[in-house]
Amino acid sequence: MEVENVTKLSKDFLWGGSIAAHQLEGAWQEGGKGPAIMDFATSGSATTPREYTKTIEAGRQYPSHEGIDFYHRYKEDIKLFGEMGFKSLRISIDWSRIYPNGDEDTPNSEGLAYYQSVVDELLKNGIEPIVTMYHFELPMNLVTKYGSWKNRQVVDFYLRFVGTMVNALRGKVKYWVTFNEMNHIDPQTEASDMFTYILAGLKYSELEGNKKEILALLGYNMTLASVKATKLIHEIDPESKVGCVFGITPTYPINCDPINVLNAFKEMDRDFYQIDAMCNGEFPAYKLREYADMGIEIGFTEEDKQAFTEGKLDFIGMNYYMSAVAMYEGGEEDEGSLFGGVQNPFLEKSKWGWGIDPIGLRYLLNYTYRRYGLPIIICENGLGAADEVGSDGVVHDDYRIDFLQKHLSELKKAVEEDKVDCFGYLMWGPIDLVSATTGEMKKRYGFIYVDKHDDGTGDLSRKPKDSFYWYQHLIETNGEEL
Ligand code: BG6
Repeated sequence: MEVENVTKLSKDFLWGGSIAAHQLEGAWQEGGKGPAIMDFATSGSATTPREYTKTIEAGRQYPSHEGIDFYHRYKEDIKLFGEMGFKSLRISIDWSRIYPNGDEDTPNSEGLAYYQSVVDELLKNGIEPIVTMYHFELPMNLVTKYGSWKNRQVVDFYLRFVGTMVNALRGKVKYWVTFNEMNHIDPQTEASDMFTYILAGLKYSELEGNKKEILALLGYNMTLASVKATKLIHEIDPESKVGCVFGITPTYPINCDPINVLNAFKEMDRDFYQIDAMCNGEFPAYKLREYADMGIEIGFTEEDKQAFTEGKLDFIGMNYYMSAVAMYEGGEEDEGSLFGGVQNPFLEKSKWGWGIDPIGLRYLLNYTYRRYGLPIIICENGLGAADEVGSDGVVHDDYRIDFLQKHLSELKKAVEEDKVDCFGYLMWGPIDLVSATTGEMKKRYGFIYVDKHDDGTGDLSRKPKDSFYWYQHLIETNGEEL
């Protein structure tokens, strides 16, 4: 058998970016859209957490309501992505535009027409759409009336939504993503209101009953929904490629004391049970035993067992922002790190405290590829920074170029030297948009500056930053001239 020697990124490498509906569309009450969980998330800051209110409170900022008005400006924005030479854009479909309450029998035709038009616009600009079916966009009614993902009926509503979209976009969309970052829900991980809310519309502090069991159920039902959706998408369109996107933080031990190495392994490995379940054809026995040990009942049935054998992924999507150092024996956790643990003294941090670690990307690619042997696409990576417009009217974001350059150099080593099958790189937030964790506009990621500020001011005009031209050149040379 002849084996291809990969010494360069493939000529079809999918260069591009990733966006999510609730972070940029706005138009929260237009086109027949219903209220979704993030429409109730206020703006926050690096030091003041977002709040998730029960109703829309007067005098408060809810950044999803206007976003950056992508809903009305998508043609202009996609044209700019096209000018940069994007080969691909990952978008998400806001469930509440298609089924405003989540449980209707028929979809909202205006919502369908909108996404059909976005996809047509991408194709017109030579950009391959990658479509995520769930990126923190859950119709609120499914939380208040059904109890969110705790309830298996929500899995059925989700499958109806997935089927509708695949039928509507069949032949135009080849790459589908079932969920974004469901791995942040797990009963073994330190839980917070933020993660349970953005994934399921529920505040951890307000969960009633056995909280660990609820987290296990939310995670399990989403995993089951993903494998069932994978099977469904394959059935509707046998040409499709289905993936799921995970946000994994490589976790290092503080030193080589074996107990610290073991703790770090366990902490990182915890995030992999859903990937195991979606790639190996069975829900991992170690997790079922763990639940049994904790007295947790997730309602695993013979029919579920079958579903896991039938819904295996074609590719894995990875979001990578930072690495972490695990808590160690006798140590104390540092305050302010998103995933717990302690700061890494070898790394610089972003203004939001995220450790900048390009080698972590190479590590993650190797680790995941060797564990599953499936093609991987980097679905998010980028630097959130407080960009300033210079006196010449332009953002000179050399720090962003530096960040991306270093990460991409490690990605290339993973492909060219370590032989990882990585088929694309999608930079997060190619146009400035609302931060998911803090709700700020100030935390900007884009190649394109958007004149919109946290107090709601700004004329929403778009302007390329220096990084825009850098990425354009990089794509032109297929990553050769980094
Ligand atoms: C990822 C999410 O985890 O992180 C995105 O998928 C999010 O939705 C991104 O925007 C960056 O986080 P933040 O809080 O800086 O926007």
